[in-house]
Amino acid sequence: MNLFNVYPLFNINPVKAQGSFLWDDKGEKYLDFYGGHAVISIGHNHPHYQSRLKEQLDKISFYSNSVQNELQTELAEKLGKLSGLEDYNLFLCNSGAEANENALKLASFHNGKKKVLYFSGSFHGRTSAAVSVTDNPKIVAPVNYDERFIKSEWNDIEQLEKIFEKQGNEISSVIIEGIQGVAGIMIPTAQFLSKIKELCEKHNTVLILDEVQSGYGRSGYFFAYQEFGVEADIVTTAKGMGNGFPIGGVLIHPKFQASNGLLGTTFGGNHLACVAAIAVLDVMKDENLLENSKKMGEYIENEIKDFPHIKNIRRKGLMMGIELDRNCTEVRNSLLYNHHIFTGNASDNRVLRVLPALNIKKEETDLFIVALKTVLQNL
Ligand SMILES: Cc1ncc(COP(=O)(O)O)c(C=O)c1O
Repeated sequence: MNLFNVYPLFNINPVKAQGSFLWDDKGEKYLDFYGGHAVISIGHNHPHYQSRLKEQLDKISFYSNSVQNELQTELAEKLGKLSGLEDYNLFLCNSGAEANENALKLASFHNGKKKVLYFSGSFHGRTSAAVSVTDNPKIVAPVNYDERFIKSEWNDIEQLEKIFEKQGNEISSVIIEGIQGVAGIMIPTAQFLSKIKELCEKHNTVLILDEVQSGYGRSGYFFAYQEFGVEADIVTTAKGMGNGFPIGGVLIHPKFQASNGLLGTTFGGNHLACVAAIAVLDVMKDENLLENSKKMGEYIENEIKDFPHIKNIRRKGLMMGIELDRNCTEVRNSLLYNHHIFTGNASDNRVLRVLPALNIKKEETDLFIVALKTVLQNL
């Protein structure tokens, strides 16, 4: 059997990782400045993460959601404390798309409405409803198109108001990324978020904050939207939550009523996933990673901001989009093949996406800074 060929692959085969570095099968060392799409939050193979998972493997890896699982309770408590959302309730699943799928469904169960408003540039995942509110026609199959999903322009208050004026009473939820990642690090304005919140409240519409990429400390806040002081009804998370172990979460405001069977999953919240997520939270707290994210992000931006060919830098914490004056493919390839540094791209091909681990060290950021300067100077 062959693999279903949907991923364009770099010709690199990583076989070992530690902290912010990877090694391939030929023993070549790479600096990871992308974390496999924002997944590596506490660095590869963190000793605390490794030992929690290994210990758990020797105890129990999985039993279904029909029995008690104290690890889920521990995770919910720790997540509530660190995120400041202590009175929210947690539903555990396996990925970002699944978290959003459940959020959209829960909103609709809650208010009985059918329409969803989303924004240009959005990426919310590839499952049915999540992909319907994703602004990329290439990945939306005919079966996923429906007029119930309404697109509004990013940061455009006027259009938002017009849509709500006409259809507000039918809109079940608004889904928005805390910071748009795939689009190239697009940050919402404070006024835009406040207006969304105001309109949601007025029309009994649920506000869903997708923090799958911008969450878990990446922006320097636990969730990126928290910088703006707006209250979310539902927050979704995944990626950095398990540092590579698949896990997603839906954080649900206490006004939502749970009932048996309303949501469910076979694998979500299993023992191994929970210890992975608990270990991530422990490390984030013990190593003060929100602070490091702010500090290192600021340091990198200051060092690179005057480099040639950089038009604009959009950044919060260690979520950074470096917009060049051209397509960034050559720069990205040169960083990877000539300097052994992984970075990412975005749907806007001029944007280099930089998402290192939140515990990246200054000397590691310097490797990136020096390499980027060399590459840009030689264009
Ligand atoms: C903001 C956002 N939401 C949802 C998803 C989907 O997450 P997953 O790939 O875990 O389903 C992604 C993935 O890139 C994302 O960036």
